[in-house]
Amino acid sequence: MTHEQISNLNKIAKQMIAPGKGILAADESMKSIEKKFTKINLESTEENRRAYRDMFFTTPGMEEFISGVILFDETIRQKTADGTPFVELLQSKGVLPGIKVDGGLEPMADSPDEKVTKGLDGLAERFAEYAKLGAKFSKWRAELSVSDILPTDNCIQENNKRLAEYAKLSQEAGIVPMVEPEVMMNGENTIERCTEVSEKVLTSLFEELKKAGVALEGTILKTNMSIPGQKSGQTAAPEQIAEATLRVYNKTVPKNIPGIVFLSGGQSSIEATANLNAVSQAGSQPWPISFSYGRALQDDALMIWQGKPANVTDAQKAFYKRARLNSLAVQGKYSSEMENEA
Ligand code: 13P
Repeated sequence: MTHEQISNLNKIAKQMIAPGKGILAADESMKSIEKKFTKINLESTEENRRAYRDMFFTTPGMEEFISGVILFDETIRQKTADGTPFVELLQSKGVLPGIKVDGGLEPMADSPDEKVTKGLDGLAERFAEYAKLGAKFSKWRAELSVSDILPTDNCIQENNKRLAEYAKLSQEAGIVPMVEPEVMMNGENTIERCTEVSEKVLTSLFEELKKAGVALEGTILKTNMSIPGQKSGQTAAPEQIAEATLRVYNKTVPKNIPGIVFLSGGQSSIEATANLNAVSQAGSQPWPISFSYGRALQDDALMIWQGKPANVTDAQKAFYKRARLNSLAVQGKYSSEMENEA
């Protein structure tokens, strides 16, 4: 990679992590969007999926808080109700279009309880097409389940090798990779176990990125906070979550990474905002830290929308509010009383 190519990637990465802004993950796979729509009794048709994404992307002023949107393969080809391609709409608002490129999960050959992310076949060709369609960044997610014995070293290594191979191909296409190892928060594990696993996963990730020759200046890390498993019965205050999360990052994440963004991973909208705020309030770090939420940015709007055009304006207001509160949280200026404001 030439200096110029790396500098171009670095410029995009910095735009993604611009002060006070974060990323909307709107790249749900067919299975995930169906799960969301089931909650509101809505069939997952192409038009319903289009209308749902249209609602978020056309929200007036969302660009004050949102620097980029991760799209799904179907979504990057879709248009607004008035026929403007989504990519064009986002560009006109100064919002970077991104694209999810992984192909979902497959079982690990020698560890059937674990999954490894697939999607490397034909990826270089797909990147060439996505670059033409206007994608400026991409995402690949690996899922790591936690128990007393999981994840295995093999699973961590195989997932991170694939993440590194993906990141290299993304950069070669001029697209900033958002590498996402997600240590799952749906287990019985304590916050201490999540912290220990996260440290191991990130240490291995940066080893693999280095081996593959990925330019860190043109890479964004998307990952989990250190948080107790949802079935652990343990609770942790935002300050404790922030302290454990930042301890791991400071041990593992190289200083030339342009930014780190959180996934929400099943936290409620309010928890995800409060925890992000605590991270920001813990003081200055070597990298900017922001959000790249899916559920925590969308869920309030989804429940108001209910698939009905008449509810779009109110749902957009709810999305705008969530985006604004998360923007305040990135600056450490959020407080729970703000939840009661309009
Ligand atoms: P959640 O914030 O809903 O976890 O989604 C973020 C994401 O992009 C997961 O890959």
